[in-house]
Amino acid sequence: MTAPIVYLNGEYLPRKQATLRVDERGVYFADGVYEVVRYFNGKPFTLDEHLQRLRRSLGGIELAFDPAPIAQASDELVRRNNLPDARVYWQVTRGVAPRSHVIADGLSPTVFLSADPASVVGPNDPLQTLSAITAFDDRWHNCWIKSLMLLPNTLARTRAAKAGAGEALFVRDGRITEGAATNVFAVFDGELYTHPADRYILEGITRNVIIDLARGLGIAVHEQAFNAVDLHAVDELMVTGTGSLLMAVTQVDGKPIADARPGPVTQQLWQALLNRIGQDCPRSQA
Ligand code: PDD
Repeated sequence: MTAPIVYLNGEYLPRKQATLRVDERGVYFADGVYEVVRYFNGKPFTLDEHLQRLRRSLGGIELAFDPAPIAQASDELVRRNNLPDARVYWQVTRGVAPRSHVIADGLSPTVFLSADPASVVGPNDPLQTLSAITAFDDRWHNCWIKSLMLLPNTLARTRAAKAGAGEALFVRDGRITEGAATNVFAVFDGELYTHPADRYILEGITRNVIIDLARGLGIAVHEQAFNAVDLHAVDELMVTGTGSLLMAVTQVDGKPIADARPGPVTQQLWQALLNRIGQDCPRSQA
């Protein structure tokens, strides 16, 4: 279910009235970037980090545009839809021009925002589990850009769904990079491992929050990739993302991870994440 009011180029419109032009470069070439921001209790979580990453992504596709005003439009969208707990999608595409591989100068970017209701998160919510499949990572070498070009991700996630799993873990050169829409962490001997934030993954904002929380708890964190063949030797496996927050992966390719139950490090991080959310986005006094 998506919320009825969307934002398009400065206007708040009923979803059915919001249409993109067929000559939009975002349609022809997936020429655009996006963010998904989680709202808890009417407040955006890690807003500055999302704005910063959007700036980096825009720079990565050489689109000169200041995204700062999107933050206010996003708050207003949440308010107009009366959705204090939401996932808000921000999309900036290059703009309208006849189809040409050469990007013309002077185009006006198209800004589209849309909100999806999200569950209310409370301090005692249980950690959720997920099963996953592995998938060949056939994406380009600029995964750090949050590009609209998501076909490899959607195809992999669809294969996962058809196999009864919730996520696909990409494997490049034998190593786990990230999930189709999540980052991946493993625990070996009480220490946390995740792929470095280089060009082969999206530097997830939830990933960075988890790294920060882990270090605060005295858990050693290694931004170091691990091999797919070692997946079944890990003590714990988890994925992070704006949509899934933090989930324990208990099965991969039909085989259990450890004893197929969320482990203690994942549980500890989940509690720390709930505390951080509660601190940063407190429930308003009625
Ligand atoms: N996806 N890796 C990929 C490929 C992603 O698409 C995402 C997020 C993440 C996690 O990043 P973050 O913690 O900043 O959400 C990692 C979003 C939610 C999506 O496409 O809907």
